[in-house]
Amino acid sequence: MNKKILSSMVAAAMIASSLTVAPVMADDAAASDLADKTVGVCIYQFADNFMSLYRAELENYLIEQGFSKDNIQIQDGANDQATQTNQIDAFIADGVDVLIINPVTPGSCNVITDKCVEAGIPLVYINREPDEAEEARWDENDWDVTYVGADARQSGTMQGEIIADLGLDAIDFNGNGAVDYIMIEGDPENVDAQYRTEYSIKALEDAGLEVNCIDDQVGMWDQTKGNELVANSLAQYGDDIEVVFCNNDAMALGALQAIQSAGRTVGEDIYLVGVDALSEALEDILAGTMTGTVFNDHFAQAHGAADAAINYLNGEDNDHYIGCDYVKVTGDNVADIQALL
Ligand code: GAL
Repeated sequence: MNKKILSSMVAAAMIASSLTVAPVMADDAAASDLADKTVGVCIYQFADNFMSLYRAELENYLIEQGFSKDNIQIQDGANDQATQTNQIDAFIADGVDVLIINPVTPGSCNVITDKCVEAGIPLVYINREPDEAEEARWDENDWDVTYVGADARQSGTMQGEIIADLGLDAIDFNGNGAVDYIMIEGDPENVDAQYRTEYSIKALEDAGLEVNCIDDQVGMWDQTKGNELVANSLAQYGDDIEVVFCNNDAMALGALQAIQSAGRTVGEDIYLVGVDALSEALEDILAGTMTGTVFNDHFAQAHGAADAAINYLNGEDNDHYIGCDYVKVTGDNVADIQALL
């Protein structure tokens, strides 16, 4: 079978399966139980494009499962751990039944976990994975604590593969035999940023390509910062830059504005990849103004987090790590992905 058709079929099947996660609730009795339960949700920062999609889906899905809207409290950590810790303390003081937390600083998870365990409140971490030592404690102590998320190594690898699949001849505009790239990173404390930065380039090397890093900057997942950094880099290094890797789509959208302002054309004299599959990025891929992205499945992640919370409320266990898959998105399958979102 044609490889392109196969990969878009696989992508469609993966998304279809993620969109049809079976509801945990079995009957009306379970629904009415959930209607009385309170859920505290802490998001690291509302002003984050991807987490806004995630948050909306999480709330909708919790309501679909039988929670009352009034019993779902969602707090904005405003990218400040002290603010978020106060919000968690307040949720604990209120005696919420379950907590879903997207930590500002994953390094603080040991303290957060201790508070929740002591209060007897089950805890589901999302999006920003705590470190191995922290996750090991949940297992060793058999605590009602889990993490739901995607493995960022996979997204980095997919970004690298999107570029590697173009072939060196298409990429090597300056003919030096190497892929000359700049990297725009998300929050460097976040494993998503660390892994995407590392594994995107590893995928190029694994494909036998020589790589040359021209610039590596931190854009903190933010579109405006992505724009400024790529504008500076293009002003400094100009035509030497052949590929712009961004750890997420928000920064890639900012990068695209900088690329266009510099008179460069994606697909003709430069390439650009992100992660998340924000709708604007998908439109750019369709128009050819972005090379590709990686779908960060906020449906599967939000549903997985809510289902894990419901299992704890029903007195059931969860695995201490619940993983979701990413999906590679290029011009070949972008229409399928748009149709599914
Ligand atoms: C990543 C996502 C980014 C940003 C980050 C926040 O998974 O790709 O866009 O939302 O999470 O932790």
